[in-house]
Amino acid sequence: MIEASVQIGADPIGRISPRLYGTLAEHLGRCCYDGLWVGPSSQIPNVEGFRTDVVEALRDLPMPLVRWPGGCYADHYHWRNGIGSPAERPLTLGTSCGLSVPDSNALGTHEFLRFCELTGAEPYFCGNVGSGSVQELCDWVEYVNSDVDTSLARERAANGRPEPGHVRVWGVGNESWGCGGSFDASVYAQEFRRYATMLRHIDPKVELVAVGLEDDPLPESGLDPDWNVRFLAALGPNVGLVDHLSVHRYWIRGGPETDFDEADYYRLLAEADATEALIERTARTIGAMAPTSHRIGIALDEWGVWHPEARDWGPGDVPRRTPATFEQAGTLRDALAAAAALEVFHRQCSVLSMANLAQTVNVLHALLVTDGAACVKTPTYHAFSLHSPHIGAQAHGTQVTTDVTLPSGRSAVSATASTSDRGAAVTLINRHFDRAIATGVRVAGMAVERARVLAADAANAVNSLQMPDHVAPRPLEVAGTSEGEFTFTLPAHSMATIEFRAARGEP
Ligand code: AHR
Repeated sequence: MIEASVQIGADPIGRISPRLYGTLAEHLGRCCYDGLWVGPSSQIPNVEGFRTDVVEALRDLPMPLVRWPGGCYADHYHWRNGIGSPAERPLTLGTSCGLSVPDSNALGTHEFLRFCELTGAEPYFCGNVGSGSVQELCDWVEYVNSDVDTSLARERAANGRPEPGHVRVWGVGNESWGCGGSFDASVYAQEFRRYATMLRHIDPKVELVAVGLEDDPLPESGLDPDWNVRFLAALGPNVGLVDHLSVHRYWIRGGPETDFDEADYYRLLAEADATEALIERTARTIGAMAPTSHRIGIALDEWGVWHPEARDWGPGDVPRRTPATFEQAGTLRDALAAAAALEVFHRQCSVLSMANLAQTVNVLHALLVTDGAACVKTPTYHAFSLHSPHIGAQAHGTQVTTDVTLPSGRSAVSATASTSDRGAAVTLINRHFDRAIATGVRVAGMAVERARVLAADAANAVNSLQMPDHVAPRPLEVAGTSEGEFTFTLPAHSMATIEFRAARGEP
């Protein structure tokens, strides 16, 4: 008997931009060094210094956008340190999130652009406002993008890139209300105005990301919940300089990374769902403060789970690992939380212009974990992979009818759907902690092309060096009925994607 039935809305609600599937690659812990970059002389197989296994895994996903070099690191980063002969680059102090390490600058602008080419990602550079200058950021944009024959463009050519980079997305600082300079909103607005005006003279095509702040910061942080309102108001007639407003969202209330209980499990999923309300409120603020003739997208350019073991702030009586490495176990629960967020992103695709999972490799809610020459795909990698049919497609609303509910009263099954010239795809989550659910999806005139499920015996299952494919997509058995209903069983705490193509004889 079908316990949950999914109906796909007839009309598309918007395009799922590939930029919603971005990540953050920060010079923090082992994300960039070790995770992405091992250097061309490493014993670890690499492509021009980047780990081959990581490049291939990210290219396969795909990962359409990557933000670099931070995070908090960006507001200490001076791009000139990372160009020219690697042997002559200075050893600087790399700092982010309280970590200070010697920084060889081996992974600089040219290497990062090459990484983007190798993985197929669009580069998103985050500029330094906290300890940099307008001129320094203008020079970086000119160096990367200019097609005018200047000394900077010649220097770029001499360093191996004669052609301009056409990098569109540039961040004007990171978390400027905190690690990026502890500005208040109106002072940051003055800075932003100056930076943005001058940057547009250098390259009018750049899309500028201004620093916003979530309107519900932790009370103990003392941060200004009205930052976005004050910032946009202070820009006044210059609000058109903002293309994207950045907000960050880390989920921090799910208890321990692996030893969580059922209540923790549901709390984390609820936090992921609540990302939608943050996006909606931010969209309302933008709507109230900016003219409708100028679209400002929301850039959720850092998001994901930040478990208590891997931080020294926020709630939780869970023992913290010291020294902090910002590394954490990635369980199936984290993958389901990511999937819940991706559902939100699809629903909010008309106001959300980009989203970057924090972070790409090893750090926080990573897609991949490396250990020496080994690389393991986390369950979240597979959650992203199950969503790949939606990238660039048209999102559709879904309606789930079921009596199976969670302790909160919400439906145990949720779904997102999309259509494209390839056909249709539906991704479903069974959020129930311990109950499998017989589910049906009604799709007219289609046949199943591929169906995959991501499941494990326990919600805290992880992939490890010993069992790298413990949590990995497996084929899902789907039965079709003549009424166009496709039925299958979603195991407890699981997700699945069914890809459909037009049935023979159908248009
Ligand atoms: O992703 C880790 C850190 O979290 C980033 O450096 C910072 O932007 C945020 O506070």
